[in-house]
Order: sequence, then C-alpha cells, then structure tokens
Amino acid sequence: MSQASPSLLPSEITAESLYLDRRRFLQATGGLIAAAMLPDAQAAALVTRPSRFSSNEEKNSWAQITSYNNFYEFGTDKGDPARYAGALKTRPWSLRVEGECEAPKTFDIDVLMKLAPLEERIYRMRCVEGWSMVIPWAGYSLSELLKQVRPTSKAKYIEFISLADPKQMPGLSRPVLDWPYTEGLRIDEAMHPLSILCVGLYGKPLPNQDGAPVRLVVPWKYGFKSAKSLVKIVLRETQPATAWNKAVPSEYGFYSNVNPAVDHPRWSQANERRIGDLLRRKTLPFNGYANEVAGLYKGMDLKKHF
Ligand code: MTE
Repeated sequence: MSQASPSLLPSEITAESLYLDRRRFLQATGGLIAAAMLPDAQAAALVTRPSRFSSNEEKNSWAQITSYNNFYEFGTDKGDPARYAGALKTRPWSLRVEGECEAPKTFDIDVLMKLAPLEERIYRMRCVEGWSMVIPWAGYSLSELLKQVRPTSKAKYIEFISLADPKQMPGLSRPVLDWPYTEGLRIDEAMHPLSILCVGLYGKPLPNQDGAPVRLVVPWKYGFKSAKSLVKIVLRETQPATAWNKAVPSEYGFYSNVNPAVDHPRWSQANERRIGDLLRRKTLPFNGYANEVAGLYKGMDLKKHF
C-alpha cells in the first residue's frame, strides 16, 4: 500500500501537540513519566567516550526523550511508543547488511554493540513537525559498519529497513505507511562521521520506544530520516524509495535536510519548540551542523532537492 491515510499524517497529530504549553505537555504525559523517569536499573551501563561532535546545549531529560516519541509501528500518538513498545523483543536480534558490497554479512546485536568504541554523541534533533530535543545518544559512526562489508563502486545509496512484526507492533494494523518503515541516504551522507549507528541513550542500552536495539541517527536531517529498530541495510546503485516520500511525496523529499528557508507545504519550518521550553527558537540551516555538512550539497538546489 502506498497511500497514507490523510487522517493519520504527522501534521494532523502535531497540530495538537504544537500548541500544548509546557504544563499541558506535562499533564498529558504525566502518567508515562513515572514509568519512563528512571533508566532501567537492571540495564548494564555502556562504556562511552566523549565526542568532538557533541553539542554543549542543555540536554533533554530521560523522561522527555522516552515519553514523547514518534514510532508509528506502535501507534501515532506521542505516548504510544512508551505505552506499547515495552514488549518488543530485542534479543536475539540481527542486522543484515547486503547489496552492492563485497562482503555482505549478518551482524548479531551483541557484535554490533562492540564493533567500534561507543561514543556519547549529544545531538540536536529536529522533527519535521516543529519540535526539537538535545539527546545524548551512544553509538559510533555508521561508516564503521559500512566499511566492514566493503562497498563496491556501484554503492551510491544506502537503504535502511526497520522491523515490521505485526505480532509485536500494534501500529502495523493501520495503513499509515507502506510498512516496513524504510529510509535512505546518499553514500557520502551515510559515510559522514556525524551519521551514527545508535545503540544507547544516556549511557544505557536504547529504550524500545527510542528504536532499540539499534537505529540510525542523522542529526542534520529531519527526525524521520533516523529509522528505528533496524533489521536490514541495503547498499544500492539507485536512489531507494522511502516510506514517507512514498506516502506524501509533495511533503517529504529524499534529502529532508533541516532547512528553515523551505517551508513544509502546510506550515513554516522557520522556528521550532525545544521540548521543555515555552518560547520557540529559530531553526538553523542543517539543524546547526552546516559547518560539518554543507559541503556535501555544493552546487545542489536544496529548494528543489528538499
Ligand atoms: N523509525 C521508525 N521505524 N518508525 C517511525 O515511526 N519516526 C521517525 C524517526 N524514526 C519513526 C522512525 C520520526 S518522525 C522521528 S521525529 C524520530 O524517529 C523520533 O525519534 P525519537 O522518538 O527517538 O525522538
């Protein structure tokens, strides 16, 4: 199915959430915060080292990052992932990497956790709906994984595919997207050191609602590019379809770089609300990562390639 149900687009849901002030936000999520407040004491702490790519802005809290999520496989309400993702089985888990490469391979999650030294990457994240957070992810550059499979010269794009298991993911019963959730990057974007394979949050393994056990994080693009709970990565010669682009091509392009100069067809992208703040702030080009990534798009018309 490639038709999104118009009543379930993120914008509809956001229209409401955007206008929640801080108190209403806290009331709306209050029940969840108690459950989501503390990192699981049982979960072993991850050993991470600091990264030169980390932001020094104030971090959002564990409670905020784990109670206000988009993970449509568990429902379209911001609280649904915290409500329903708890039962997702994240062991055993493997990630298949295949396509245009010399050494396709299936990586067990426990191998992936140790494939390269874990870094704490404190990233600004900006959702296309107009809210943002500062999140201390744990992971390593995606290039560390990709180089293991030895991409061929035909590998121009990378496709990312999330788990789609109707037995575990109640949201799959609704045709909001053409499941599984898929996303894509150009290979130079994927190899950029800012793009990470993420396995943790606040020094703990990723909570399920944030994309356990392994997800992509690409901080200069709108949040929907950062696909969660990955099961497959395919190196491709041609640009892959992406779930949101298939659903609403006029609103969600392949590149999806954070660009305050290009409005979403139904709302401005000029500013954003940092979750926890009362006032909106200006959105920065490439979400503040222009120094690092603007060079990737030299000569491209980013209004056309939105
Ligand atoms: N990945 C999958 N598989 N399913 C989703 O619905 N939502 C995206 C992205 N990755 C999504 C996904 C969107 S719209 C955003 S804003 C981010 O995840 C949110 O990530 P967070 O909940 O960890 O902040």
